[in-house]
Amino acid sequence: MKEVTVTAPVNIAVIKYWGKRNVKLNLPTNSSLSVTLSQDHMCSKTTVSVDDSYDTDSLFLNDEQNEIGGRLSNVLAAFRSLTEDASLKDAKVKITSTNNFPTAAGLASSASGFAALVFALGKVFVPTYNNSQLSTIARQGSGSACRSLFGGFVAWEKGESEDGTDSSAVEVAPKSHWDDLDALICVVSANKKAVASTAGMQRTVETSPYLMHRAEQVVPQRMADITDAIKNKDFDKFADITMRDSNSFHATCLDTHPPIFYLTDVSRLIIGVVHALNEAAGRAVAAYTFDAGPNAVLYVQRKDKDLVLSIVNDLFGPCEGAQGASHSTLLHEAKIDVDLTNFKHANGLSRIIQTTIGDGPRVV
Ligand code: DP6
Repeated sequence: MKEVTVTAPVNIAVIKYWGKRNVKLNLPTNSSLSVTLSQDHMCSKTTVSVDDSYDTDSLFLNDEQNEIGGRLSNVLAAFRSLTEDASLKDAKVKITSTNNFPTAAGLASSASGFAALVFALGKVFVPTYNNSQLSTIARQGSGSACRSLFGGFVAWEKGESEDGTDSSAVEVAPKSHWDDLDALICVVSANKKAVASTAGMQRTVETSPYLMHRAEQVVPQRMADITDAIKNKDFDKFADITMRDSNSFHATCLDTHPPIFYLTDVSRLIIGVVHALNEAAGRAVAAYTFDAGPNAVLYVQRKDKDLVLSIVNDLFGPCEGAQGASHSTLLHEAKIDVDLTNFKHANGLSRIIQTTIGDGPRVV
C-alpha cells in the first residue's frame, strides 16, 4: 500500500488564459500569469492511495463518490505511462479530495483540485518529477491548474511545440518576494457560471476576431511588463496591467458570438469604485480582476487593505467579517477626497474573503 496526502492552492490570473490552440492536449492560445493565494483560506486536500486489494479506480469528491471520466482518465493514463515502477502500471488508485472552501462560494475549485491530484499522483508515480514537469500533466486536467503547482507569482508559458511538452508553469517570484500584497475576494454570486470556461473559450476561438489580436499583439508585451512590475514590486504598474487584462479578457467574451456576459451590474460598480478611488488618490489603491463570473478579486497593498475592505463592505455589504471603521473616516485619514455614494448597491455582495499570497502545494 502506498499513500500520500497533499494540499494545493487556488490561483487567480492577472493575465488571463482564454482560448485553446489544441483542445485535446489543452494547449493555450496565449501565455498567462497568476498569483497563488494562501492555503489557509482556500485549498484542495487530496489523498491518493494505491493498493493490490483495489480492483478498480475510485474517486471521492467532498465525501461523494464520482465517476472517473474524461480529463481525469487522461491524467491517470499519463501517470501510468510515465512511471518507471512496473508494479504501478496496472495498479488501481483511490482518490479522496475535499475543498476547505465551499464550492458553492462560486470560486473555481478545478485549479486547486487538479493541482492537488497531480501533485499527489506525482509523488506516487513519478517521484523524481519537478513541479514544472508535473504542471504539464496538471494542464491537461484544467489549464489554470498548472499554475497552482507553484506559490507566489507564476507564469504559464504557452509553449511552441505541437506535443505540449514546453507548455508548462514556472515561478516568476516566490511569495516572500512581495509579501505585503493581499487579496479580497468579493463574492457577488455563488451561482454556477452561466457559461463554463471550457465551452466559453471554445466559442470565443471559433467566433471572435479580437481573440487572436489579443493573443498575438497584446498579451506578450503584458507578460513582460507585469513580470517587471512584480520584480520591482511596482504596485501602480501591476494594478494597471491587471485591470487592463481583465477588461481585455471580458472584451473577448463580448466579441464572442453569441456574446458571453460574465460581469453583472455589481461587478461594473466595483470597477467604477476602484477607478474613482485610484484617480482621487493619484496612485493605485486597488486592482480588480474578474474570471469567468461576476466575482471580483481585488489586489491591495496591506497598508490599504482596511480602507478598501470598509469601502466595499459599506457600499455593497453588509458582509460577514468585514465590519470596522466607516470608509469615510478612513478616506479622510488617508487624505483621499472622493465621494463614492453613487456606487452604492446594498446587498450586492454575499461575502468577502480576505486572504494573502500563498505557497505552492505540499505534502501533509
Ligand atoms: C477565466 O482553466 O477553467 O479563469 O482549461 O478548460 O479547464 P480549462 O479552463 P480553466 O479556464 C480558466 C479561465 C480563467 C482565466 C485564467 O485562470 O487564466
